[in-house]
Amino acid sequence: MDNKIKTLNDKLALAKLGGGQARIDKQHQKKKLTARERVMYLLDEGSFEEIGALVTHRAKDFGMEDQQFYGDGVVTGYGTVNGKLIYIFAQDFTVFGGSLSETHAEKICKIMDMAVNVGAPLIGLNDSGGARIQEGVRSLGGYADIFYRNVQASGVIPQISAIMGPCAGGAVYSPAMTDFTLMVQDTSYMFVTGPNVVKTVTNEEVTSEELGGASVHASKSGVAHKTSTNDVECLEDIKKLLSYLPQSNKEKADDISFEFKDEVRDTLSNIVPENPNKPYDMHQVIEGIIDEDSFYEIHKDYAENIIVGFARLGGKSVGIVANQPMFLAGVLDVDSSKKAARFVRFCDCFNIPLLVLEDVPGFLPGTDQEWNGIIVNGAKLLYAFSEATVPRITVITRKAYGGAYDVMNSKHIGADMNFAWPNAEIAVMGAKGAAEIIFKREISKADDKEAKWKEKEAEYAKLFANPYSAAERGFVDEVIMPETTRRKLIKAFSMLENKTIAKPNRKHGNIPL
Ligand code: COA
Repeated sequence: MDNKIKTLNDKLALAKLGGGQARIDKQHQKKKLTARERVMYLLDEGSFEEIGALVTHRAKDFGMEDQQFYGDGVVTGYGTVNGKLIYIFAQDFTVFGGSLSETHAEKICKIMDMAVNVGAPLIGLNDSGGARIQEGVRSLGGYADIFYRNVQASGVIPQISAIMGPCAGGAVYSPAMTDFTLMVQDTSYMFVTGPNVVKTVTNEEVTSEELGGASVHASKSGVAHKTSTNDVECLEDIKKLLSYLPQSNKEKADDISFEFKDEVRDTLSNIVPENPNKPYDMHQVIEGIIDEDSFYEIHKDYAENIIVGFARLGGKSVGIVANQPMFLAGVLDVDSSKKAARFVRFCDCFNIPLLVLEDVPGFLPGTDQEWNGIIVNGAKLLYAFSEATVPRITVITRKAYGGAYDVMNSKHIGADMNFAWPNAEIAVMGAKGAAEIIFKREISKADDKEAKWKEKEAEYAKLFANPYSAAERGFVDEVIMPETTRRKLIKAFSMLENKTIAKPNRKHGNIPL
């Protein structure tokens, strides 16, 4: 028996060593943790249970028979984060560069299946040289098995990917189909084709970092939802993100205990400037409304004219979508529409109520926007809100102009409550532009055109640059004082807690992609 126990212990000790101490040291020199260290940091102490530690690859070509490492380049299993069950895989770069073999893929698929069957989040820590070159199409098949499962799991369990090293070629498509992709600055990159291929095909000289580093994907492509400066920070980000999410689409996120007091916040009265053309930071409005320090921003550096993120309101998890007057005056454009639509759909999948803070002067005009499909991309956000059945509340803090008024969670497309601050302007467009169009003839005939324009602008503004026209028709449920916003929202979301909406019977809708 002693021998048998020794055999087991020897095997497990080897499995723990991955590709060996020399390669572990190399990983540390690159300022990266190993797969096991990452898992241990993320999960609650003592909670990790490994599955498949003794799996080895089955390849025979290119001398692979003689190169066996227990675990085959990926650590898989389950455990808890802040007491909640999660499933995890962490690619081990010390074993064949974390490359994906047939068996490596089987291990990942096994825990994906368990995560879906049980109903708990799946976390993937990616650090891999891509398809295991020695295995050819078997490895490609492995990727496809994972992609297929990503899609089947979509909207059923939250799926979070962290990119903590290379992620190239086909490997990028699994993270892309998960709900959130987090990247570590300087040590991670993602691209479909690397710098060498780019040089051959397009003659473009570009480094890995320039092509697909964390900052590029966080600001230009929007592929990364969040970046961090090192592995530990990235793992902390995952823990925080999980705290806002339910385990699956069958549950709601856990509440944090909360005692309702008066919930009036005077700071909210002084944020929006008198002059409607002056910008202000919508973050201040968010901070004024939510529970202290609870905002977790997603896509912070991408399409900054819209803000999206999770927060706590009266202890409950909410998703916030807010126009940002500080950037492009808060207009909707291609990127901001895509960013917000994806976030709205995530919240709707996972029963997270939506709060919309609206100050939008319309859609961004121009050939660039039209040629890049603002029509179809703006429609994504309209579609996403219209299909969302979670509790949905809008607060119009200032402008709600044109088609953007409809899109930004208006009552007409299913919002449950629509509040407006007294300075809100709900109209087809700004008074100046409106006067120019509808009083064109009158202005052109006037001796003092400028004075006439001003007069007509004032006339239009009096009629429409306020929330009352909309309130009279019930498009706005209540005009509220800014300082009471938090109080109103906590009560309204609580009132909507048990909202249910029967969905039409269909296979799925056809969102404009
Ligand atoms: N298949 C099999 N083994 C791989 C691999 C792959 N796709 N990618 C890396 N490895 C192995 C290397 O042979 C090396 O093995 P060793 O430890 O026995 O020497 C180890 O992983 C580390 O790779 P190395 O190249 O030394 O690391 P690096 O940090 O300098 O570079 C990459 C990392 C990912 C840039 C580089 O390994 C690479 O370009 N890999 C191939 C990427 C690719 O084309 N994948 C297939 C298409 S999806």
